Amino acid sequence: MDTYSLLLLAGAAGLAPAIRQRLELSAAKHRSAAGHPRLARRVAALVPAYEYDEAAFFCADGAPEAISAQRRAGFERLAGTLAARHGSTAALGASAEGGLSDLQLVNRYRVPFQFRGLVRARLKGASFLTASAGVQVTDLDGNTAYDVAGSYGVNLFGYDFYKECIERGVERVRALGPVLGAYHPVVADNVARLKQISGLDEVSFHMSGTEAVMQAVRLARYHTGRTHLVRFCGAYHGWWGEVQPGVGNPMPAEATYTLKDMDEASLRVLRRRRDIACVLVNPLQVLHPNAAPPGDSALIASDRAAGFDRAAYGAWLKRLRDVCSERGIPLIFDEVFVGFRLAPGGAQEYFGVRADLVTYGKTLGGGLPVGVLCGKAALMRRYSEEHPVDLCLARGTFNAHPYVMAAMNEFLQALDERAPLRRLYDGLDETWNRRAEALNERLQAVDLPVRVRNLSTIWTVCYLQPSRYNWMLQYYLREAGLLLGWVGTGRFIFSLNYTEAEFAAVAERIAAAARAMQADGWWWHRPGLTNRAIRRGVLKEMLRVSLGRAPLSARERAATAADVPLAAGTAAPCDRA
Ligand SMILES: Cc1ncc(COP(=O)(O)O)c(C=O)c1O
Repeated sequence: MDTYSLLLLAGAAGLAPAIRQRLELSAAKHRSAAGHPRLARRVAALVPAYEYDEAAFFCADGAPEAISAQRRAGFERLAGTLAARHGSTAALGASAEGGLSDLQLVNRYRVPFQFRGLVRARLKGASFLTASAGVQVTDLDGNTAYDVAGSYGVNLFGYDFYKECIERGVERVRALGPVLGAYHPVVADNVARLKQISGLDEVSFHMSGTEAVMQAVRLARYHTGRTHLVRFCGAYHGWWGEVQPGVGNPMPAEATYTLKDMDEASLRVLRRRRDIACVLVNPLQVLHPNAAPPGDSALIASDRAAGFDRAAYGAWLKRLRDVCSERGIPLIFDEVFVGFRLAPGGAQEYFGVRADLVTYGKTLGGGLPVGVLCGKAALMRRYSEEHPVDLCLARGTFNAHPYVMAAMNEFLQALDERAPLRRLYDGLDETWNRRAEALNERLQAVDLPVRVRNLSTIWTVCYLQPSRYNWMLQYYLREAGLLLGWVGTGRFIFSLNYTEAEFAAVAERIAAAARAMQADGWWWHRPGLTNRAIRRGVLKEMLRVSLGRAPLSARERAATAADVPLAAGTAAPCDRA
């Protein structure tokens, strides 16, 4: 019996409201691991560490010897090119990594962990850069690459624009310098402009998007007197524990409900529970409602899915808005990523729905670190008129730092007043949809098993054939001269200032990289192989390792990949053991 039927039964049987509410909560959970953070934490703790040896690396899918050799040759060539090209950059990376925790993390999580040993040893990347100009960056060895990483979304108008914001901003506040506590007058203008953009009454300044989200949730709890925040399955809201209730958070997030995005069952929970302090929305989760942000380290098979329907999502937000209004639940739009990117007025403008609190960050700092919260006056108040010692204290040493405020002001002024910048928004979606479509047609015409999906300038790569090696594409793209973020092909973030010619160069490189990868045999697969079979095979490997045994032999991998047992005596040429 499914949860919904149980619910009906519970209602009919007049079960205690607490049980009914518990069942309603279960019905509003997404079936995936991302929908069950507690369970996901337990499962993550069971996954054992293991890596393929060099022989298995090239035939983890049971590829025949010829394909394995082809892949090996491709890998060697690629490793040679990258090593020759990025020598100084790689050397600095190697010496700095031991003392740079962040670099250790990202270097370990670029590919599925079974493959990372050889990848880390041989495919050296460009973690150190020295210059940027136009839509390109330059590394320590002088190589230039088109930037499709977008500095986590900060880069909206091109790096030269942000350099200018910072330089002009520094000039404007030079006389005051880094005096904190009191404000530089530029703050007043920022407040006025942000009120205008957000359509809200008040503004508070923070140092990061994470902090702005923390403040929004804290205020919602303070004013409603309720405990729980609602977030949607898979949504990213920064690295604060309560918005990351799943894997990686050492403490259980007891006061967080993770509900299904775009689902009636979630509205039912909002209508009924009395402990909900706020609903936190990352509009459209950038093409992945109900899924965690995509990264190539999770690219075990080819089932990455992405897509969105602007009208359907807008309609969902309206319903969410209505239920929140009915129930007096503050609705928070977390626009740290999509604010200013989808439209000058952000997601509120793009979807035509107003929130009670809105967070911004990234690009708004004009190139410097920032988080901003805008909200309705009644929610932004940090004290109680009735109880003078009851405060919602939230301040930060560096909030409203003069240099950041001045760079932000340059950004906001330019957004308001520079016609060429405003023109970048004209037909924005049409431009980027057309570019994505043209690239997909090109990939299809030459039979490459790769397609891009996009939400405006935010792109992801999807794979059409079952494969264990899709993550290799990030290294072919690197070779082709593209700078990707550490999530690899999971996310490309373009700045709006890409000209047609510059985009054409990127498209050319993407197609060339995919062609090279195909020619090197990485997309070979056994007829009949499915993504499900790949996942099941990887699960079996993990079980074996957990039981203290070696991962599957190549012979077994071949059988697993085909999802049928190999007949006795069948050659499994990859098996050298
Ligand atoms: C939607 C969203 N919220 C919050 C954050 C956190 O911002 P920050 O990294 O500045 O703390 C991010 C960062 O990527 C984000 O995308």
